[in-house]
Amino acid sequence: MIRFILNDKLVETELPSGSTVLDFVRYHKRLAGTKIGCREGDCGACTVLVGDMEGDKLNYRSMTSCLMPLGNAHGKHIVSVEGINMKELSPVQQAMVDTNGTQCGFCTIGFVMSLTGFVLNENAKQYEQAIASVDGNICRCTGYKSIERAAIIVSDKMNNKPGTETIGWLVKNNFIPGYFLNIKERLARLRETIRGEENKTREVKMMIGGGTDLVVQKALAVKQSAVEHLSGKDELNGIRLHNGQCYIGGAVTVTAFAESELIRGFFPALDKYIKLVSSTPIRNMATLAGNIVNASPIGDMSIFFLALDSELLLTKNGVQRKQKLKDFFKGYKQTDKSVDEIIEQIIFTPPQSSIFNFEKVCKRTHLDIASVNAACLYQVNERGEIVSIHLAAGGVAPFPKYLGRTGAFLQGKKITAAVLKEAIQVMNEEIAPISDARGTAEYKRLLARQLFLAHFQNQPGLIKQVIGA
Ligand SMILES: Cc1cc2nc3c(=O)[nH]c(=O)nc-3n(C[C@H](O)[C@H](O)[C@H](O)COP(=O)(O)OP(=O)(O)OC[C@H]3O[C@@H](n4cnc5c(N)ncnc54)[C@H](O)[C@@H]3O)c2cc1C
Ligand code: FES
Ligand code: FES
Repeated sequence: MIRFILNDKLVETELPSGSTVLDFVRYHKRLAGTKIGCREGDCGACTVLVGDMEGDKLNYRSMTSCLMPLGNAHGKHIVSVEGINMKELSPVQQAMVDTNGTQCGFCTIGFVMSLTGFVLNENAKQYEQAIASVDGNICRCTGYKSIERAAIIVSDKMNNKPGTETIGWLVKNNFIPGYFLNIKERLARLRETIRGEENKTREVKMMIGGGTDLVVQKALAVKQSAVEHLSGKDELNGIRLHNGQCYIGGAVTVTAFAESELIRGFFPALDKYIKLVSSTPIRNMATLAGNIVNASPIGDMSIFFLALDSELLLTKNGVQRKQKLKDFFKGYKQTDKSVDEIIEQIIFTPPQSSIFNFEKVCKRTHLDIASVNAACLYQVNERGEIVSIHLAAGGVAPFPKYLGRTGAFLQGKKITAAVLKEAIQVMNEEIAPISDARGTAEYKRLLARQLFLAHFQNQPGLIKQVIGA
């Protein structure tokens, strides 16, 4: 039985846990405000808000309901546009009307939900954050300028929003209906009920994290299978430092990783990197282990963790084993993982005095997969010699590529233009990009070279010498 709160009502359903929240909301609950556009997480027309307890806080995140498995709603608060409708339009809805931010209206629900997600975030007040909240929403009519004006109006209204008691303030100011005030207590009671029901065993045919890969690729199979939902498992969540190593649960989402104070302390430019990964609603669902098991040759987080020389902790029936991530990828979409093995933890030594960099080039700046991406972690001694280096690149091989030979060549060498030129030659022997929709093989080699050099952007003079500028 899947139980959750949908808008202001508790719902219980025996529908397949791999069916989507979108179909449940529209076809079973007849709440037709949530729209169907692409069913691939690209357009945002199906955006809902998902409220869940994070520690002792109730946080709301925007998610694309077309990819969200119904089982992932278990124990949560799902808000469709009907759940924020009141007698009068909310200030978010009104701003969209006042600025002509809506024309045909098909995308409007998605924008309203994303902007409502923005106002529900107690740290969000700035216009830039309002705009970032709609990075997963596409509009074919307005040209976006009117929606940008709506975002200005909404963010201006956030000036008086208190840092705590956000929900109370939003209710008082008619952003959301009054029933939101009781959701925290209702979720706590629901959790109690659910806890008493757990530990029922059944044969599992498919494991799912956020569903942002699996539901796009195999929606019907997911719906028809017995699905194990990994996202809610305690042992797969959490981010912690232990004996100098960082342990990240496999079900930690890209958003949770990016928001972790611990992680932010290790990667000062993290926001810049993460902005390049999918969109807000997808990052809110996508897990780190899902990115790795997906084994896409251009998986961003795989490249990120390869450059950290990460290790995986895999479990199966209580038996654990560790494996270096660089040895995990075996071929196109092939990994060294048996079907029912679970990535429980991703482990890496945090960069201390090392330099870390992540780069990505795609056809569009946002909400696009990479033509080539690259990451590097290196440490230099006082003589300018590289004492340790790990490099990775995507889009240049059938799987996320750890550039072991290039790293070995650079090890112990002083960073000079001549050394970097030679390293590029070694890298070119190590990679084998193919021509496809993301660019020709030649173009990808050029990108790989540029991104490699970008890791040394702290020495611009050197790069100029390499490229002959
Ligand atoms: C619109 C859109 C944009 C995207 N943009 C990007 C992008 O910019 N960059 C990028 O890298 N990716 C992107 N993706 C791909 C996807 O979001 C990521 O690969 C994501 O990290 C997958 O995680 P998930 O939890 O949703 O995986 P799921 O779909 O739940 O699962 C993927 C695979 O991993 C397995 N799995 C999941 N968790 C575990 C675990 N703990 N242990 C063992 N197996 C597990 C599942 O069984 C499945 O085989 C995008 C996807 C969409 C829909
Ligand atoms: S229908 Fe397009 S993102 Fe869900
Ligand atoms: S108003 Fe028509 S798609 Fe946005």
